[in-house]
Amino acid sequence: MIENKIHIKVFFNNEVHNIITYKNEYRNLMQLLADRLVLDDFGECKGEGKCGTCMILAINKSYSKSDYYRNELNTLSKFKNERDNLRLSCQLLINEEIQGLHLEITEAI
Ligand code: FES
Repeated sequence: MIENKIHIKVFFNNEVHNIITYKNEYRNLMQLLADRLVLDDFGECKGEGKCGTCMILAINKSYSKSDYYRNELNTLSKFKNERDNLRLSCQLLINEEIQGLHLEITEAI
Protein backbone atom coordinates (compact mmCIF):
# COMPACT_ATOMS: atom_id res chain seq x y z
CA MET A 1 0.00 0.00 0.00
CA ILE A 2 1.28 3.45 -0.86
CA GLU A 3 1.80 5.81 2.09
CA ASN A 4 -0.10 8.90 1.09
CA LYS A 5 -0.38 10.68 4.41
CA ILE A 6 1.00 14.19 4.49
CA HIS A 7 2.28 15.50 7.81
CA ILE A 8 2.73 19.18 8.55
CA LYS A 9 3.46 21.06 11.75
CA VAL A 10 1.75 24.40 12.39
CA PHE A 11 2.86 26.98 14.96
CA PHE A 12 0.01 29.28 15.85
CA ASN A 13 -0.96 31.22 18.98
CA ASN A 14 1.90 29.70 20.98
CA GLU A 15 0.67 26.20 20.21
CA VAL A 16 2.01 23.48 17.97
CA HIS A 17 -0.46 21.56 15.84
CA ASN A 18 0.58 18.33 14.17
CA ILE A 19 -1.73 17.91 11.20
CA ILE A 20 -2.14 14.83 9.07
CA THR A 21 -3.91 15.09 5.75
CA TYR A 22 -4.00 13.30 2.42
CA LYS A 23 -3.08 14.37 -1.05
CA ASN A 24 -5.80 16.63 -2.44
CA GLU A 25 -7.98 16.24 0.67
CA TYR A 26 -8.50 19.99 0.42
CA ARG A 27 -8.27 22.29 -2.57
CA ASN A 28 -5.29 24.06 -1.03
CA LEU A 29 -3.37 24.59 2.22
CA MET A 30 -5.46 27.64 3.15
CA GLN A 31 -8.63 25.55 3.22
CA LEU A 32 -6.97 22.86 5.30
CA LEU A 33 -5.70 25.37 7.88
CA ALA A 34 -9.02 27.20 8.04
CA ASP A 35 -10.90 23.95 8.54
CA ARG A 36 -8.63 22.28 11.07
CA LEU A 37 -7.72 25.32 13.15
CA VAL A 38 -10.95 27.32 12.81
CA LEU A 39 -9.23 30.59 11.91
CA ASP A 40 -11.08 33.89 11.83
CA ASP A 41 -10.52 36.28 8.92
CA PHE A 42 -8.26 33.77 7.18
CA GLY A 43 -8.55 33.38 3.43
CA GLU A 44 -10.87 36.29 2.81
CA CYS A 45 -10.56 36.25 -1.00
CA LYS A 46 -11.31 32.50 -1.01
CA GLY A 47 -8.07 31.53 -2.66
CA GLU A 48 -7.71 34.09 -5.42
CA GLY A 49 -4.28 35.09 -4.14
CA LYS A 50 -5.27 38.73 -3.68
CA CYS A 51 -6.00 39.43 0.00
CA GLY A 52 -2.87 38.10 1.76
CA THR A 53 -4.86 37.00 4.82
CA CYS A 54 -3.75 33.39 4.35
CA MET A 55 -0.08 34.26 4.71
CA ILE A 56 2.24 31.69 6.27
CA LEU A 57 5.94 31.58 7.05
CA ALA A 58 7.70 28.39 6.01
CA ILE A 59 10.13 27.54 8.80
CA ASN A 60 12.00 24.56 7.41
CA LYS A 61 11.77 25.16 3.69
CA SER A 62 13.25 27.80 1.41
CA TYR A 63 11.65 29.05 -1.75
CA SER A 64 13.09 30.76 -4.78
CA LYS A 65 11.19 33.24 -6.94
CA SER A 66 10.34 30.53 -9.48
CA ASP A 67 8.48 28.55 -6.81
CA TYR A 68 5.77 31.19 -6.46
CA TYR A 69 2.54 30.95 -8.40
CA ARG A 70 0.50 33.44 -10.39
CA ASN A 71 0.17 36.77 -8.56
CA GLU A 72 1.58 35.50 -5.25
CA LEU A 73 4.72 37.67 -5.19
CA ASN A 74 2.73 40.70 -6.24
CA THR A 75 0.28 40.22 -3.36
CA LEU A 76 3.06 39.57 -0.83
CA SER A 77 4.84 42.75 -1.93
CA LYS A 78 1.87 44.84 -0.71
CA PHE A 79 2.70 44.07 2.91
CA LYS A 80 5.51 45.34 5.10
CA ASN A 81 6.28 41.81 6.17
CA GLU A 82 9.47 41.23 4.21
CA ARG A 83 10.74 37.96 5.66
CA ASP A 84 11.94 35.28 3.27
CA ASN A 85 9.84 32.21 2.69
CA LEU A 86 6.48 33.81 3.17
CA ARG A 87 3.78 32.14 1.12
CA LEU A 88 0.10 32.49 0.46
CA SER A 89 -1.27 29.21 1.72
CA CYS A 90 -4.06 29.35 -0.85
CA GLN A 91 -1.44 28.90 -3.55
CA LEU A 92 -0.03 25.70 -2.06
CA LEU A 93 -1.65 22.43 -3.01
CA ILE A 94 -2.04 19.48 -0.68
CA ASN A 95 0.60 17.26 -2.18
CA GLU A 96 4.15 16.00 -1.67
CA GLU A 97 5.53 19.55 -1.89
CA ILE A 98 4.23 20.33 1.59
CA GLN A 99 5.21 16.98 3.12
CA GLY A 100 7.02 17.64 6.41
CA LEU A 101 6.50 21.39 6.20
CA HIS A 102 6.78 23.35 9.43
CA LEU A 103 4.98 26.64 9.18
CA GLU A 104 3.86 29.58 11.22
CA ILE A 105 0.63 31.38 10.56
CA THR A 106 1.62 34.99 10.31
CA GLU A 107 -0.43 38.15 10.06
CA ALA A 108 -0.55 40.18 6.89
CA ILE A 109 0.91 43.50 8.09
S1 FES B 1 -7.04 33.55 0.42
FE1 FES B 1 -6.64 35.56 -0.23
S2 FES B 1 -4.56 35.51 -0.78
FE2 FES B 1 -4.95 33.52 -0.08
